[in-house]
Amino acid sequence: MNTYNRILLKVSGEALLGEQQFGIDYKPVEMIANEISQAVNAGVQVAVVVGGGNIFRGMKNSAKLGLDRASGDYVGMLATVMNAISLQSALKSINIDCRVQSALEIKQIAEPYIRHKAIRHLEKGRVVIFAAGTGNPFFTTDTAAALRASEINADAMLMAKNGVDGVYNDDPRINPNAKKLDNIKYSDIIKNDLKVMDASACSLCEQNNIPIVVFDFAAKGSLMKIIKGEKIGTFVN
Ligand code: GTP
Repeated sequence: MNTYNRILLKVSGEALLGEQQFGIDYKPVEMIANEISQAVNAGVQVAVVVGGGNIFRGMKNSAKLGLDRASGDYVGMLATVMNAISLQSALKSINIDCRVQSALEIKQIAEPYIRHKAIRHLEKGRVVIFAAGTGNPFFTTDTAAALRASEINADAMLMAKNGVDGVYNDDPRINPNAKKLDNIKYSDIIKNDLKVMDASACSLCEQNNIPIVVFDFAAKGSLMKIIKGEKIGTFVN
C-alpha cells in the first residue's frame, strides 16, 4: 500500500547542478529520473515541477544584468523548460513515459499546460513535468508547485532539498545548533519566516489541504520511503 497515490514533486534547479557551478549535470538528472521511476513502478502518479536556479535566478541576477524583474523572471521560466526537457529525456531513456507541459506556449518542444490533459496523462501512468513555472513573473517555482499540486488534487507535495533533510528551526548551514522539526504547521513556516518555501506556496497548500513533505533528495531511496509511509524529513500540515 502506498501512502500517496498522486504526488507533486518539487525539484529545485540546484538539484541538477551536481558537481558543477552552473548548468545541468547528467548524474543528478539520472539519479532523479531513477527515483521517480521507482515511484511510477510502484503505481504512484507523479507530477513534477522543476526550478531553474541552476541556469538563471530571476531575483538574484536580474538587477546585476540590468534586466527588469519581470524579464528576469521570464528568463528563469525558460531555464525551467531546459531542465524539464532534460529530465524528460532521462526518464525516456529508462522507459518511463513522460509529458512536459509548459505554462508558456512553446509548442515545438512542449505541450501547453492543460489541466485535464495533465490529469489524464497521470491516470495513464505517465509522469507530467510542469515547466515555465506559473507562466507569470513575480511568482516562484515553489508557488507553481503548490498551484499545480492544488489543480491536480495531489495527495501531497514533496519538496526535495539538496543535502538538507527537512525543516530546521534555524538555517542548519549557518547555525550548527539548529534543530530539525519532524512536524510543523503551515502557519509556523509563515509566522517564523522559515526560508524553506515562500509564504504564498505554503498558504496555497494550506488552503487546499495538501500536506507537504520536505526531504533530502540526495539521500537515495527517500522518495520511496515517503511513499511507503516512513517518517523522514519534515511533515507540514
Ligand atoms: P493520448 O491522448 O493519451 O494519446 O496522449 P499522448 O500524449 O500520447 O497523445 P498526443 O497525440 O496528444 O501526443 C503525442 C505526442 O506529442 C506526445 O509525446 C506529446 O507530448 C506530444 N505533443 C502533444 N501535443 C503537443 C504540443 O502541443 N507540442 C509538443 N511539442 N508536443 C506535443
